[in-house]
Amino acid sequence: MNFIQIQEALEKKKGNVAVRGWIYRIRKLKDKIFIVLRDSSEIIQCVIKNEEMIKVADKLLMESSLEIEGEIYSEPRAPTKYEIDVKKLIVVHASEDFPINKDQSPEFLADNRHLWLRSRKMTSILKIRSTVLEAMREHWRKKGFYEYHSPMFMGMQAEGGSTLFKVDYYGKPVYLSQTWQLHAEPAIFALEKIFTIQPAFRAEKSKTSRHLSELWMAEMEAAWEGFEYLQDDAEEMIKHVVKKVLADNKDELKILERDISKLEPVLKKKFPRMTYDDSLKILAKHDMKLEWGKDLRTFEEDKLSELYDTPIIITKYPKVVKAFYMREDPKNSKVVLGFDVIAPEHYGEIVGASERETDIKKLKKNLEEQGEDPKKYEFYFDTRRYGSVPHGGYGAGVERIISWICGLDNIKDAIAFPRTMTRWTP
Ligand code: 4AD
Repeated sequence: MNFIQIQEALEKKKGNVAVRGWIYRIRKLKDKIFIVLRDSSEIIQCVIKNEEMIKVADKLLMESSLEIEGEIYSEPRAPTKYEIDVKKLIVVHASEDFPINKDQSPEFLADNRHLWLRSRKMTSILKIRSTVLEAMREHWRKKGFYEYHSPMFMGMQAEGGSTLFKVDYYGKPVYLSQTWQLHAEPAIFALEKIFTIQPAFRAEKSKTSRHLSELWMAEMEAAWEGFEYLQDDAEEMIKHVVKKVLADNKDELKILERDISKLEPVLKKKFPRMTYDDSLKILAKHDMKLEWGKDLRTFEEDKLSELYDTPIIITKYPKVVKAFYMREDPKNSKVVLGFDVIAPEHYGEIVGASERETDIKKLKKNLEEQGEDPKKYEFYFDTRRYGSVPHGGYGAGVERIISWICGLDNIKDAIAFPRTMTRWTP
């Protein structure tokens, strides 16, 4: 048999087709059996009328894997409006009783994540995830960036000690990477413009719908470029991702019941840009007073996101709340040339960025203030010793972006096997 995907069979509309997949639903009547078969592309109703075949199909349970050959024709009552009259049925594997049926608790579905991945919801999210990663790559490749990778085992922290995972490395303590950044900056002297999409690890002690312990981060680093370029690039990258998902994943967004009118403004409008100081003024107008020098919390970010229908870019945060490597604003030593991008609809921070500090003395001082030993960072200071250039970069949370685009309730569904403070299996 020359198998085609269910989607192709639906497009063929008539004639003989051979498809293979898994039983999504089965309804057993006296003189016929209806099977809704699914593969990665779609679902299709198949009807079995032959007596011998009915005997075989009668024993089948959900998720059994089948090969089916038959005639396809229009059937308006079928879930995807076509039906296959089955002429040949091969049972590849008769499934045991599938543990997942309707109305299972989220905890049960999490315990059976390896099986829940087959659901239409998870299949749709995973397809969108694949588009998101492809779009990110496409964006940077088009601009001449090289794909580059950094190690996962680290001798020092980059984003503060509180979210570090310590691991036993041949009896010595090392950390899992929180970001590629410290090992990306040395590579811009070779490749100038680089990007990656790779895992990052954060020992987040809070259980929220926005935090994972193992996330994927899309990061870029560019020599010779500054603050404005980084903001423009982050905006272009996000727009390209949303555009590609809207073009390629209409069916999946429909299955997820995503209101796509909420995503359309992203393509049409320029993202508002405001300083941290401006954001405090806007919050004050909405009766939210935040003391200067405090980081914006979820609460404040959510309020700001409610005021716009596109992501917003908040720049020049106080130095005290940001990482040691962010460049001090030459016009105001209290703030940094860094920014966050906040997604609409309460999806929180999707990008963290900055121009990089090139003054070794300032870097050392910042590290010391955080209680870090600057000696561990000598290799990093070398990037400022031998042909230092202005440069900067950012990191985008892949799962945060997917959560927002798909309209998910929890970031855990944006990745196949989520790792959080309370979940590391299956
Ligand atoms: O803002 P962050 O911490 O930035 C950095 O790590 C920089 N060194 C990146 C760079 O400049 N190359 O993290 C970047 C993004 C955040 O904006 C957020 O979207 C996501 O990563 N993120 C998380 N996503 C899910 N769960 C977590 N625990 C996350 N922590 C950060």
